[in-house]
Amino acid sequence: MSRLIIVSNRVAPISEGGPAAGGLAVGVYDALKETGGMWFGWSGDVLASGQPQIQLEERGPVTFATIGLVRRDYDQYYRGFSNATLWPAFHYRADLIQYDRHDFEGYWRVNEWLAQQLVPLLREDDVIWVHDYHLIPFAQALRAQGVKNRIGFFLHIPFPASQVLLAVPPHRLLVEALCSFDLLGFQTEPDLRAFCDYVVNEAHGEVEHAAKGPSTIRAFERTLRAAAYPIGIYPDEIAQLAKAGARGKLVRTMKATLHERKLIMSVDRLDYSKGLVERFRAFERLLDHAPAYRNNVSFVQIAPPTRADMHAYQDIRLQLEGESGRINGRFAELDWTPIRYIHRQYERQVLAALFRESHVGYVTPLRDGMNLVAKEYVSAQDPDDPGVLVLSCFAGAAQELEGALIVNPIDIDGMAEALATGLAMPAAERRARYRDMIAQLRENNVSVWRDNFLRDLQGGGEKRRAMRAKSARKT
Ligand code: G6P
Repeated sequence: MSRLIIVSNRVAPISEGGPAAGGLAVGVYDALKETGGMWFGWSGDVLASGQPQIQLEERGPVTFATIGLVRRDYDQYYRGFSNATLWPAFHYRADLIQYDRHDFEGYWRVNEWLAQQLVPLLREDDVIWVHDYHLIPFAQALRAQGVKNRIGFFLHIPFPASQVLLAVPPHRLLVEALCSFDLLGFQTEPDLRAFCDYVVNEAHGEVEHAAKGPSTIRAFERTLRAAAYPIGIYPDEIAQLAKAGARGKLVRTMKATLHERKLIMSVDRLDYSKGLVERFRAFERLLDHAPAYRNNVSFVQIAPPTRADMHAYQDIRLQLEGESGRINGRFAELDWTPIRYIHRQYERQVLAALFRESHVGYVTPLRDGMNLVAKEYVSAQDPDDPGVLVLSCFAGAAQELEGALIVNPIDIDGMAEALATGLAMPAAERRARYRDMIAQLRENNVSVWRDNFLRDLQGGGEKRRAMRAKSARKT
């Protein structure tokens, strides 16, 4: 069996044996633990001086190969082009896109350099699976160094509509680089459609849809395949975590402070794509329109810091602090704080337990590739007395979780209504919605995601080899 090589910008924190929260790191680590293999990527260190060296560390079946970045590379590749250009563009925030040609050059250069570091560690039959927007040029860089292995790419964030992508000046180079992979995976069908749309209308390539399985793409003198593979989780593992966590002191103490009030829970990295300001305002609208909820419901927003050295993230933090202060000032009473806004990371187990204790999971990103918090929320519920998921129609998870109350995250009144509906929903309806969603999560868990992707990545190779052998016999 081929060895699996995972390449992603962020590698799960090795010391803790795995990530605490966050889509890519959690999903990928869960997938890799089972197959075994190597995980290559940035160590998270930024070096003030010296030459970064690869560090190898074995953890059970997984070898972690990590490397630091020098300051200039971190600034241009990570803070610059990845997070100040691609992240806002791919999340439909054309207003926040910043572009600097030098950052783009740095992004390309770091991809080539990372590929160079990986090449000596590769074996001939390794299957390489590259993740996310930081590494779009990675296959092209490996190919330029003579790597012939199968290389797949999975995009964890949305793929934008062409009109938005066109705002990123080197859009064509990016899509051409994507076409160096053998298989492209997107979170949802709309993301796949957006990519195909670019291929046909902007790159004048061809897309051939198959009745079953990936579409065939012909563009930039390459043939590759592309499909949607919605990422999953292990719902039963989360349920176990939630049950265990609920017995912990922290969660019990927190529950006692609610004094039987209902609980609305949200957990997100503090990112402008998550719709936090709109979410706070919708909670305010609920208190405005339904005074019975005043002093009867608490909203806990856990929003750990992320990319805190970037202006756009400092801005959203300030905005959110302003909103929570304003709303609390308006409604708080001596014994009740309506919004508990916490700018800190908690362990996965504590989060799962809080989800289980809550009446509403409030997950309303303006755009999100998948949003695994939505899936974790459902998984953590008590099947006999589950909470209600209020979910943005712009999260990839909304394509699967039909039992959620689906909202438009900029419709403040609509979200306030959904909160009221969720808080008042009878148990029978909550159970029916939960059953529907948990069945879906079990059916498409993270190993199904991984197996489907790897099957198509390797399967495509067999098909190609068979075709090559057939044409060789003919000549
Ligand atoms: C999203 C991205 C990941 C990224 C994570 C955390 O989930 O898809 O690629 O690792 O956010 O962001 P950070 O910038 O801290 O890696």
